[in-house]
Amino acid sequence: MILGIETSCDDTCAAVVTEEGEILSNVIASQGLLHARYGGVVPEIASRHHLELVDAVTADALERAGARLDDVDTVAATHGPGLIGALLVGLSSAKAIAASRRLPLVPVDHLHGHVTASMLGPAPGAKHPALPGAQRFPIQPPYLCLVASGGHTFLARVDDPARYEVLGQTLDDAAGEAFDKGARLLGLGYPGGPEVDRLAREGDPEAFEFPRSAPGELDFSFSGLKTSLLYKLRELGDDAPQADLAASYQRAIVDALVARTGAALEREGVERLAIGGGVAANSELRDAVRGLGVPVWVPPVELCTDNAAMIAGAARFLEPLEYPGYLSLDAAARLS
Ligand code: KG4
Ligand code: ZN
Repeated sequence: MILGIETSCDDTCAAVVTEEGEILSNVIASQGLLHARYGGVVPEIASRHHLELVDAVTADALERAGARLDDVDTVAATHGPGLIGALLVGLSSAKAIAASRRLPLVPVDHLHGHVTASMLGPAPGAKHPALPGAQRFPIQPPYLCLVASGGHTFLARVDDPARYEVLGQTLDDAAGEAFDKGARLLGLGYPGGPEVDRLAREGDPEAFEFPRSAPGELDFSFSGLKTSLLYKLRELGDDAPQADLAASYQRAIVDALVARTGAALEREGVERLAIGGGVAANSELRDAVRGLGVPVWVPPVELCTDNAAMIAGAARFLEPLEYPGYLSLDAAARLS
């Protein structure tokens, strides 16, 4: 089995996944509330908490999987992209565990994890959304994946699970950033996505017209949207109907994501779609992609937001580094 560790942002995550892709455990210790008072993730605070939490979270992942370190064949860890100090904690911890047992180590691209999270299936008997037919695993290549998170937004094509091809991406803000910045303008808390999602349910998504910019066939742009909300709020002053604004703003983001995804499916002639990243937890987006006319896998929320099961899962398709070759391996804030 594979032990995965993920600490690229503010969640300390460890998971155990089988070679086949069954999730035996997936532990996520969220630091969200610690950062909420600052209105965003503070990198140095995130690193310190990863350091405090990573051993306990790893032990918990093993225990929940009913496994011991002796049962682990491979260790996987995110080596980028992300906050450099945060990444270093998880990667160093993974190196130490692997080296102490002379196990192979797989460095994983965080985004490859998001793209292939949908290939993971539940452990037998685990609570998980029903899979179609008698399928054990939700999706197999070729498929397209929309990844929308706080740091990244892109459409990927997966033919071979060892890699992914980026078909289009955001040219400025990520979709999650658009949610978070919009929420801040509306006076809601951090992270803003879930708050906008909640408030939008009480509002009219057609009350206001927000721009749907189309910078390229399959690219996204969200920075104009945020400015448009700012102007609208200035214009309306104290009478601004918060719920209608949240609903209309969310509709603009979801429309942009779904329109490009539909265009990509058509252009590529691919018949299967998966979604991932924190914004894939958005209730309106989860509903909207189901109307695209192809089989869609909408993973449980804990596989959309940052998690280590997706890192262990992606490691299955990659060449491991043998001991001691990985001891000099470094984390990278950006992967080239
Ligand atoms: O993937 P993720 O957990 O971390 C990153 O790698 O960035 O994504 C976090 C982002 C945040 O911007 C958050 O506001 C957004 O996902 N998010 C949502 C929802 N839940 C989380 N956005 C819209 N609706 C939601 N329900
Ligand atoms: Zn992520």
